Amino acid sequence: MASVIDHPGYFTSLPRDYYLSEEIFEAELDLVFARQWLHVGHVSQIPQPGDFFACSVGPESLLIVRDADGEVRSFFNVCRHRGAQLCESGTVGHRKAFVCPYHRWSYGLDGRLLGTPGSRDGVDFDFADWGLHEARCSTYYGSIYVYLGEDASQAPAFRDVVVPLVDEEQLGRVQPDRVKLAHQVRYEVRANWKLVLENNCECYHCAGAHPSLGVSCDYAGFFAPRDSDLEAFNAEKGYFPLRQGMQTFSMDGRWVSRKPLGTGFETGFSAGFILVPMFAASVYFADHGVHLDVFPIDKDTTHIVCQWYVHEDAIEGQDYEIDTLIGVFDVTNREDVALAELTQRGVRSRRFVPGPNSPTRESFVKGALSQYLALMGRQID
Ligand code: FES
Ligand code: FE
Repeated sequence: MASVIDHPGYFTSLPRDYYLSEEIFEAELDLVFARQWLHVGHVSQIPQPGDFFACSVGPESLLIVRDADGEVRSFFNVCRHRGAQLCESGTVGHRKAFVCPYHRWSYGLDGRLLGTPGSRDGVDFDFADWGLHEARCSTYYGSIYVYLGEDASQAPAFRDVVVPLVDEEQLGRVQPDRVKLAHQVRYEVRANWKLVLENNCECYHCAGAHPSLGVSCDYAGFFAPRDSDLEAFNAEKGYFPLRQGMQTFSMDGRWVSRKPLGTGFETGFSAGFILVPMFAASVYFADHGVHLDVFPIDKDTTHIVCQWYVHEDAIEGQDYEIDTLIGVFDVTNREDVALAELTQRGVRSRRFVPGPNSPTRESFVKGALSQYLALMGRQID
C-alpha cells in the first residue's frame, strides 16, 4: 500500500491538526467510525432468545439482542417517540419486549413498534414506519460486530479488513465460539483516539514502558523487519512472542486459567486478528483470550474497552481468579492510557511537528494511518 505520509527517508504520524480539530473529528465519525465493523461483545453473552445487553459504542448506544429466531441483532438504543434511551448502557438482561421508560412505547425483539399506550387517540401513523433503527450486525469467530453506517450494503467484507496475527488457520483450533466473557474494563483516555491507535500499533515503547508485560513477552520478537503492508504485520515469529519457559501472558508467565482453550496447544500459542483503523484486536493464548477495542467519544476523549475470555466451562474461583486473569494486561492498559495522555498534552504544543518513525518498529502505524487517510479521502504532502 502506498503511504501518503512518506518523506524521503522516513514516514511520520499525522500533522497536529488531526489530533485537535473538531471538524476533523466530526468527519471521522462519518467517514471512518461509521464505515467499520466495531466489536461489541461475544455470542456467549446472549445465549437465549430474549437475552440482550446495552453497550456504548463511541458516541452511540446499542441494544445487542438475541431475537426470537435465535439471530443476533443490534438496534440503536433510541426510542422513536421522543428519543429517550430504552436502557442504560451496561444493562444486561432478558426481555420479551423493550418498553421505553418515558411514555411506555414498546418494541419487539425484532425492533418492531408494538404499542404506544394512549397515543393513538387523534394521531395517525403506521407502526411499521416507527420500529427501532437497526445497525447491521455480524458474528466472526464468535465475536459480535456492528456497522453503524446507514447504508449497510457498504459494510466492508471481513476478509478485506482483518489483519490476521500469526496464522488464521490456527484460530479455529481455539474454538472461539466456546469461550465466555469473564471480565471487562472500560478505560477513559483523555487523548484523541488516533494517539491510542498509534500506540496500540507499535511495541517500540514496550521495553521501556511495560515492565510487567516484559516478564512474559519477548519484545525482541516484535522487531523483525517487515514491510508496511498490513499483511506483513503477520510476522513470522507471531505478534505475541512469549519468552522462553513462559506458559502464557500473565504477571509471572504462568497459566491464568486451568481450562485450556480449544485443543492441542503448545506453550506459547497465540492466534488472533486485528481490524484497523479502529483497532479491534482479538488475541487468544492457550488458556485465555483478550479483546481490545478503541472507541472515540469526542476529539479529546477515547474509551479503551478490554475484555478477558476463558473457556466456557471454566469456573471463577476454581479455574481462574479475576485479579490474576486480568493482571498483566490491566497494568499494561493503564500504562498505555498514561502514554496516550502524555502525548496528547505534548501534541497540543504549537511547536509539535510529527517526527521520523521507524520503518521496522513502527511499520504498522504507517499501515493503519494510511488506511485511515484513505477512508478520510485525504492526502498529506
Ligand atoms: Fe420513549 Fe416517549 S420517548 S415513549
Ligand atoms: Fe503499550
